[in-house]
Formats: sequence, structure tokens, C-alpha cells
Amino acid sequence: MIANITLNLPSVIEFGAGKIGTLPHHLQGFTRVFILVDKPVFTKIEPIAGELEKSGSTVLLSTEVVPEPPIDTLSGLLQTVKLFNPDAVVGVGGGSTMDLAKLLAVLCSGEQQIHEVIGINKLGSRKTRLILAATTSGTGSEVTPIAVLTDTREKLKKGVVSPHLVADVTIVDPELTLALPAPVTAATGMDAMTHCIEAYTNRFAHPVIDNIALQGIRLISENLETAVLAGDNLEARTAMALGSLYGGLCLGPVNTAAVHALAYPLGGEFNVPHGVANSVLLPFVMDFNLPACTEKYAQVARTMGVTIQGSPDSVAKEGIRNIKQLSQRCGIPSGLRQLNIHAGAIPSMAKSAMLVTRLLDNNPRKLELSDAQAIFTAAFNGSAG
Ligand SMILES: [Fe+2]
Repeated sequence: MIANITLNLPSVIEFGAGKIGTLPHHLQGFTRVFILVDKPVFTKIEPIAGELEKSGSTVLLSTEVVPEPPIDTLSGLLQTVKLFNPDAVVGVGGGSTMDLAKLLAVLCSGEQQIHEVIGINKLGSRKTRLILAATTSGTGSEVTPIAVLTDTREKLKKGVVSPHLVADVTIVDPELTLALPAPVTAATGMDAMTHCIEAYTNRFAHPVIDNIALQGIRLISENLETAVLAGDNLEARTAMALGSLYGGLCLGPVNTAAVHALAYPLGGEFNVPHGVANSVLLPFVMDFNLPACTEKYAQVARTMGVTIQGSPDSVAKEGIRNIKQLSQRCGIPSGLRQLNIHAGAIPSMAKSAMLVTRLLDNNPRKLELSDAQAIFTAAFNGSAG
């Protein structure tokens, strides 16, 4: 029997080259517009801000984005935005920018404090219009009800999950990704791949999302390397943008699992970029999960283009090897050792990861503390698949 599902998505998704040009249309009637923008695309947004001002809006542009945003960064920005009192907030950037914009849009007009909204469904309401435009192909934040912050005191990533974080309008314009540096393209692309794989093999997987996830896996495996090696290839960038959008669509209704849970302490304690942490851990978590979802991993492998004949187990293992090789060809380190993480940190990282129960509960195989330690130990040396 097909399970119930709730799809909480933006009212409008604008997808395609040049679609950032639709931004003024979606801001018609809004008079005070705050735009948070990543520095590399500032020059693309500045003329649009000028256009808005000409049509009578007051616009405040800010590039105050910190990667993997700490709670203090949000707190500082929130003061500025509350003073400006916008009726629309726009986030143009990668996951960090979009997550900040989401929280600013919700918190700027209300009384809730940041610490009160961390967790699931803690947000009261949103009165301010929220528009997001993705400039990386990976996080999927442009279509999710999730924002992630870094608690620098506890050295942990903390999630805010609420339907009020879903944008009114999302713009996915692959032209905005053309200038992305190769390492960011690689890491964000593997993050999107991880979203698709963890949703497809999730304990709460759903047929609606399974199809989207498999299409995402196909697009990313076929196009990531080209996008990394030839960043100005619009065809590969467009395919990656779609693969990433598909990965993002997996997150709200189904979400990720143990790869993301184990990646959290790498980001929180060692500032490893989210996509790199996921990419390094993905094949090792798949090795661990293999007995629990052999057939589904075999399907992942076939979707990636694995054609060998054999048992589901052997096909699945070939798929895990392919994922590791793809990540290496894109220049991502293969083990924790290369990320300057010392082996002595493994017990505390495993303990921190076990706190991320909202994601671990989704994992196809139950994972204990000793399993988390074993996965980190295997990933330390980088010898999966
Ligand atoms: Fe992710």
C-alpha cells in the first residue's frame, strides 16, 4: 500500500537559463526589499536591484554571508534587517545564503528568538515574502523547508525545519553557476547526489520521490565531471541544476539519513564544507548499509550506468566503487586523513553524530555508536568500495 505523503513546495519554481531576469516580476508590489547575495554574483544582481529602485522600491543589498553560517552571523544580520523592516527578503547564493535568507524572512517581523526556533515545527508564521535563487547546484535549499546553522559553542550543526521556510518563489538559473570554482562544483554536486541516494534508500522512501531521486542520480552521474572540468559548459550546468533541484525536492518529504548525520560533526568541529563531508562519507555509509538495501543500491548502480551482470550485491558494490571514483575524479579527497582530521577525534565525532536522531532514524540500517565509530575509522583511511 502506498504511504501518505505531504509535499510542501514553493508556489512558483522558475527553472532555466536567464530565469534570474524574472526576479523583478515576482517582486511587483513590494516596496522594501532586502537582498542577501553571494559576492561572486553581486554584479548580476546589482542591475536588477537598480531596476527595482527605478520602479519605486527601496532595496537594501548585503553580501554579509559566512559559509556554514554560525548563529551569531544570523543574529547580526537580523538586527540590520529588523531595522530595515522589509516586506520581501531575497536570498541569491548557495545553501548558506539561502538558509540565512529563509530565517531572516521569518524572524524579521516576529517576536521569536533564534534559539526558540531550532528544531522541528517551532516557527510561528512568516509575514514577509521569501524568494530564493540558487547559485550552486547542490544544497537544494531553494526548495526545502530546512535551514541549517552552526552552533560554534557546542560545535554542532543545528537544523530549523518548518513549512514557513518554504520560499514563495524559487529561481534556478544555471547561468548563475557558470563561474563556480571547480572544488565548489564538485562538493555541491556530490551533496546533491547524496540527497538523491539517501532519499531513495530511506526508511521512509516514497514512490513520488523515488522517481525524482533516480532521475537526479542519473543527471548528476552523467554531468558532474563535465561541470567540474569545463565550468562554462551550459548544457552540463543546466543538467546539474536540474539534478540538484531533484535532490532538493527529495529533502522535505523524505530527507537524508546517516551520511548527513555523520557529516554534521565534520562541519561543526572541523569546518569541512558540507558537500565534501558527505562525499567522503557516502561510500563508507553505503558499505555499512549494503545488507539492508542491496537491491536499491543495485538500482542506484544501474542508474549510474553500471552494466555488469551479476548478483544485486555485486552490482551494488560496483556502484559504490563508481561513486568513489566519480568523487575522486572531481578532486574530492577520499578520506578523513586528507581533511586534516586526526584519528583521536573519531570517538567524539561518533558521539556527536549519534545526536542527529532526526536523520539517523531515516537510515535503512540501524546504526549504533560502535557502527558510527567503525564508519569514521574506515573513512579515515579512505578504503571503501
Ligand atoms: Fe546536504
